[in-house]
Amino acid sequence: MSEKRVGRVVKVAGPVVVAEGMAGARMYDVVRVGEINLIGEIVELAGDTASIQVYEETTGIGPGEPVLDTEAPLSVELGPGLIESIYDGIQRPLDALVAKEGEFMSRGSDVPGLNREKKWHFKPTVSEGAKVSTGDIIGEVDETSLMVHKIMIPPKVSGTIKSIAEGDYTVTETVAVCVADDGTEHAVQMMQRWPVREPRVSGRRLAPEKILVSGQRVIDTFFPISKGGTACVPGPFGTGKTVVQHQLAKWVDADVVVYVGCGERGNEMTDVLTEFPELKDPRSGEPLMRRSVLIANTSNMPVAAREASVYTGMTLAEYFRDMGYTVALMADSTSRWAEAMREISTRLEEMPAEEGYPAYLSARIAAFYERAGRVQCLGSPEREGGLSVIGAVSPPGGDLSDSVVQATLSVVKVFWSLRGELAYQRHFPAIDWLTSYSFYKQYLKGCFEDKEQGLGMEKMTAEAMALLEQESELIEIVRLVGSDALSPRDQLALETSRSIREDYLHQNAFHKVDTYTSMEKQFEMLKTVLHFHHQGLEAIEAGAETADIFKLPVREEIARAKYIPQEEMDKICKIRETIEEQMKALHGTAASK
Ligand SMILES: Nc1ncnc2c1ncn2[C@@H]1O[C@H](COP(=O)(O)OP(=O)(O)O)[C@@H](O)[C@H]1O
Ligand SMILES: [Mg+2]
Repeated sequence: MSEKRVGRVVKVAGPVVVAEGMAGARMYDVVRVGEINLIGEIVELAGDTASIQVYEETTGIGPGEPVLDTEAPLSVELGPGLIESIYDGIQRPLDALVAKEGEFMSRGSDVPGLNREKKWHFKPTVSEGAKVSTGDIIGEVDETSLMVHKIMIPPKVSGTIKSIAEGDYTVTETVAVCVADDGTEHAVQMMQRWPVREPRVSGRRLAPEKILVSGQRVIDTFFPISKGGTACVPGPFGTGKTVVQHQLAKWVDADVVVYVGCGERGNEMTDVLTEFPELKDPRSGEPLMRRSVLIANTSNMPVAAREASVYTGMTLAEYFRDMGYTVALMADSTSRWAEAMREISTRLEEMPAEEGYPAYLSARIAAFYERAGRVQCLGSPEREGGLSVIGAVSPPGGDLSDSVVQATLSVVKVFWSLRGELAYQRHFPAIDWLTSYSFYKQYLKGCFEDKEQGLGMEKMTAEAMALLEQESELIEIVRLVGSDALSPRDQLALETSRSIREDYLHQNAFHKVDTYTSMEKQFEMLKTVLHFHHQGLEAIEAGAETADIFKLPVREEIARAKYIPQEEMDKICKIRETIEEQMKALHGTAASK
């Protein structure tokens, strides 16, 4: 390793260091900067001069200090031990760093991403003599109570398994030996590496025709995301971006969650580090961390690490996808990532584009989301994996014309637009039903097991949305001339819309039952709200007064349907019978008048 190039620092500008004498180095090589070995990455090369983004605070570094080229790109370690970890932006375990270096991490630390001492129990799933190639699963490790880690043949390895044995191994010990056709032997360990900026290779892409059920009514009913889909959640401060991300992390039917927390402000360091690890996996009752990896990097950490963190998270997520799992990656918030890009770009003295962001902002954002998808995995057994990516965006003042929002919207297929006004009225989730959209809807028609229900849901969703759109027009009329000017049918449309908003779309993330609604329950609830509407229309035809319809006691039951537990769903169907009885009684009084 003595041949590694050594250059010299000539300039330090915040997170960017310029070094000379770097001839022969490659773009994106990882370098160690200064006497204290700060970790950095080459982001610009001109002749023998390299510009380096440094992942750690550069104060105290000065001209003349050495820069060592490691001749390898920024990579992550992949293997047992990822789950339950909390990492910084370049996969240094935060807890291990804190334990080793005391409360404050010292700079230039070299704690590896995966624990080198811990032994994992490896169970082979293939036998000696098996023909294997890249991506083949050769064994399993019960990593946590919620996670079976699949050990795969690493890239560029193929041949015949010469030896493989069950036992307890560290991630760097040999678990199998594979002999290539030309006779060369390759020792296979549980750990592999992958450069973070390069998408991991997978097989064929599959259509986005499986829904990622979130249990959030406004999402699943109106703006669903698919397994392997992409979504963005932009909104002003305090509108519920983080709550949406946490709800999804808890409830979506994914096997693994990778959560990249880029704090909004300094004190959110604690939010990211304390709130997420406290979340419970609702299905098992165990900590959600048992099937999650958390990457925490907050505004008090150096910007370059923040720039890298989304790639670190993405690569870990792709690795789990390759095992054949459904993975959900959340990034909260991608605006902080874009700001890191902007700061580095300014230090590199690049020509700024809109709002000071670099011209390559949209290309980077697009390349990031394009790593999502539902795919056929490499290797055998045959399996498919899905990686959904959900990014929060926090534009200044909630302005949707912001560059980061616009660049994101041009790639993602789902837009959950959080509106300040709704959050202010405490209508949560504050997802604006009039401006949000999902391009997956057309692919997800078959997501109900019961076909009849699927078709029914499609019709109801269209009807509910039409009512909400009608409401937004009627409200204008009411504002001008008052509600008395409306026909009874229009008055009913307004009431039903209110019921759709308050009884259906409004969902309390912190209520034991309301926090999650199954697709079947969503179906029954919406059917009930609309049944009231249809029965109301009939009653109006029969001469009933709208005021009497609106006063019916059954409305209270409709409003409380959300709190009916899944196991007692027949109670929701009963509400529809009560609607009919009470409406019939109105027909009677109308006729007798
Ligand atoms: N679905 C929800 N149910 C109940 N309260 C919510 C919901 N979403 C947001 N809130 C409330 O709004 C507050 C702010 O949400 P948060 O996600 O922190 O906003 P942001 O990340 O957009 O700044 C939360 O602390 C909570 O009180
Ligand atoms: Mg937040």
